[in-house]
Amino acid sequence: MSTSRRAFLGKLTGAAAAFSLAPLGNQLWAEELADAQLRIAPLGPEEAAMEEDFWAIIQQAYTVSPNLLNLNNGGVSPQPKIVQDAVDRFNRMSNEAPTYMMWEQLNAGREVVRKGLADLAGVTPEEIVINRNATEGLDTVILGISLKKGDEVVLTKQDYPNMINTWKLRETRDGIKLVWVDLPLPLENDEDIVRRFEEKVTAQTRVIMITHMINWAGQLLPTRKICDMARKKGIVTIVDAAHSFAQVVFNVREWGCDYMGTALHKWLCAPFGTGMLYVKKERIKETYPVFANDKFASDDILKFENLGTRNVPAEMAIGHALDFHLAIGAARKEARLRWLKDYWARPLAQEDRMHVHTSFHKDYACALALVSIDGIKPATLAAWLRKEQQIVTVPIDWENLHGIRITPHVYTRPRELDRFIEAMRKARKEIKPDAE
Ligand SMILES: Cc1ncc(COP(=O)(O)O)c(C=O)c1O
Repeated sequence: MSTSRRAFLGKLTGAAAAFSLAPLGNQLWAEELADAQLRIAPLGPEEAAMEEDFWAIIQQAYTVSPNLLNLNNGGVSPQPKIVQDAVDRFNRMSNEAPTYMMWEQLNAGREVVRKGLADLAGVTPEEIVINRNATEGLDTVILGISLKKGDEVVLTKQDYPNMINTWKLRETRDGIKLVWVDLPLPLENDEDIVRRFEEKVTAQTRVIMITHMINWAGQLLPTRKICDMARKKGIVTIVDAAHSFAQVVFNVREWGCDYMGTALHKWLCAPFGTGMLYVKKERIKETYPVFANDKFASDDILKFENLGTRNVPAEMAIGHALDFHLAIGAARKEARLRWLKDYWARPLAQEDRMHVHTSFHKDYACALALVSIDGIKPATLAAWLRKEQQIVTVPIDWENLHGIRITPHVYTRPRELDRFIEAMRKARKEIKPDAE
């Protein structure tokens, strides 16, 4: 190890120091990463976003297929090899004697994982639940809040279907009223967005549901400002951060929301079937869990973690995903993801018949964007890209949003996006317009 790198590693503190090179398993790769970290340390996130040497090393940490261009990383992310290896290792270890090795030995790391997640979210571990996905966390809250007939909930037509459907269940079961905001995207004015929520508020409003990043088109909403408005009126806020957690940098405490649910198998690249829920300390007591333990009316956050036998190997490997995320650097990762989106979306936005339905302003979007070609249905375009070009995208036809959603990830290379740009031009030429 070079003297300068040793000196640099010696100086690392906080988040960066939390990344231990030892468990990487691949010492050469780890050394290359350490050298690259040293080189980019003086750069700001936006400059580092363009350092291809650094991102090439990150790319090598994944095991993605070179023969397929996966531009639907928004659905679920691949895990870097260190996370896959940890799951395998923990699984083998658990199988030596599950009740002892899994429940006792492996599970002993649970509070360390919880602390790591709490630190990343900017809250206390006593407010964090480790669960299976964003749906479990958010639906627990939607089902667990006490609401009576006539109470109103403000939500948007662009929220995620699982949450919308659980709200509809409560509408049917409990007689609450759902009040809909319809967002014409993209939007680029905080005050305008807050006003669209505020104008739906009445004396009966009890809850506002906020999707921080709208999955259909990548729109970021000014969550802190919406929460501020709600708090002043005594309204509870639930934030769906399924897409924004570990994609963009934010602090849940600063938002001042009451609840936040997210997936960890999306942008954190943790094992499949891992998620997290934040419940503000003051809200824990009054919120009922879905699967009760004997403390269901207490202010103990663990009442939301009563699942019975669970996938402890996956949960414990969240720690490795956290380490990997911190090794890249949260701000650097956000800047790179936005840079990749701009890389393909800016040229396509200039093309004849093509439209990008996502903002280019950094406050309103990051990795995700929605693009369409006039006259070609999203499903037709996505199927053509998949069949003719081996490019995976996702067709979106939801409310006022129509196009294909494109989500590169930290391992995506610019030359792969060049291939996507060319494929889109070819699609425009070769696909016969769909009959409307
Ligand atoms: C905005 C949003 N919320 C919630 C979810 C559900 O996430 P999960 O599959 O982790 O339950 C998704 C999934 O794509 C999403 O995009």
